[in-house]
Amino acid sequence: MRDNSRMAVEPTLRSWEEHFAARTRGGAGEGLLEILALAGAQDVISLAGGFPDPATFPGPALADILRELAESGDASPFQYSPTGGLPGPRDYVAGRLEAVDGRRPDEGELMLTSGAVEALELVGKALLDSGDRVLVEGPTYLGAIMAFQSFEAAVEAVPLDEDGLAVDELDRRLAHGPPPKLLYTIPDFQNPAGVSLSAERRLVLLELARRHGLLVVEDVAYRELSFADELPPSLWSLAPDVVLQAGTFSKTFFPGVRLGWAAGPRELVSKLVWAKQNTDQCAGALGQRLLEEYGRRGLLDEQLDRARALYGARRDAMADALERHVGARAAWIRPEGGFFAWLELGEGADAAAVARRALEAGVAVVPGPPFFPAAGGERHLRLSFSRADEGQIEEGIRRLGALL
Ligand SMILES: Cc1ncc(COP(=O)(O)O)c(C=O)c1O
Repeated sequence: MRDNSRMAVEPTLRSWEEHFAARTRGGAGEGLLEILALAGAQDVISLAGGFPDPATFPGPALADILRELAESGDASPFQYSPTGGLPGPRDYVAGRLEAVDGRRPDEGELMLTSGAVEALELVGKALLDSGDRVLVEGPTYLGAIMAFQSFEAAVEAVPLDEDGLAVDELDRRLAHGPPPKLLYTIPDFQNPAGVSLSAERRLVLLELARRHGLLVVEDVAYRELSFADELPPSLWSLAPDVVLQAGTFSKTFFPGVRLGWAAGPRELVSKLVWAKQNTDQCAGALGQRLLEEYGRRGLLDEQLDRARALYGARRDAMADALERHVGARAAWIRPEGGFFAWLELGEGADAAAVARRALEAGVAVVPGPPFFPAAGGERHLRLSFSRADEGQIEEGIRRLGALL
């Protein structure tokens, strides 16, 4: 019989911390985990996560498509796909970009990704060396800060206001310091601020990008979730020579499919495809084919119409509740699309303390600091209206107002 006691070894490892790579020490990730945990809690009204409402997800039509695919004898949904995506789904997404943005990417200008967040990861992997300067909006999507910081980039926030990124401040930043590798922006219904970049500023931004040789990474996660009819042109459609567009089907189809795209200059896209070869090699072929079939039958557009109506009504409910229960104790801009309202509390307020007290009162909201790469957001709260129904929004804001 083996004597297991002789095999016992004294641990020599003092802590896992010393095993972790330097790139893991940005710290931003903890905030995201907390947000996701809050979003999932059962006993609180969650205005915390950026989750789509399951009521928008595809129903039995998707089951029919799945059965048809399985019975068709076509192996492509179940096989590895080319790294840039299967031809049919790529053609469908190219056609969609043409319909939404008025420009169809050429064959080499488009790839499918496993969600938009993977597109950002690939950008980091393909472009960023340790210490490279990256500009983002302050505030911005936490997942982007994490993606760029994980490649040890020096991520720097440029402020925004009700018309989006402050392009005059960007101009000043570009005049000083090492040239940034890229600027990351969310021009439509920004996460978390809810604002959109005005048509005039889009032109100024692109002029600056061309003048300084700056790559603009445009994240269009909420572009199709507009509550009004008119959208300014996408940055990529205006300047496909200097813009890489990252998009997602998480908010329009469903996040479980993990599907997005990157469209941009051919050389850059081919480098991203190279980078993807040893991340996951290809986005899931089954999801690609489901999206294609669902989309070509007009079902994605129908789903989008329902989603816009649902989120628009919730935006109205949140705006009404904020008027009545918060009033002048905070400032906010009425979002014209997307999932989020961004509250600026009065002088001296401590958003983290407010968020803690709100949670005690049974409402989850996200304080502002995680949306900045360094300091910022101490007086801000992000409120999401995508997942809570109108009654919960009213009650959540009533409780928040009471403690403010
Ligand atoms: C601005 C922005 N970009 C990207 C994503 C993530 O997209 P995906 O689910 O496709 O990775 C989100 C999700 O919250 C987002 O808000």
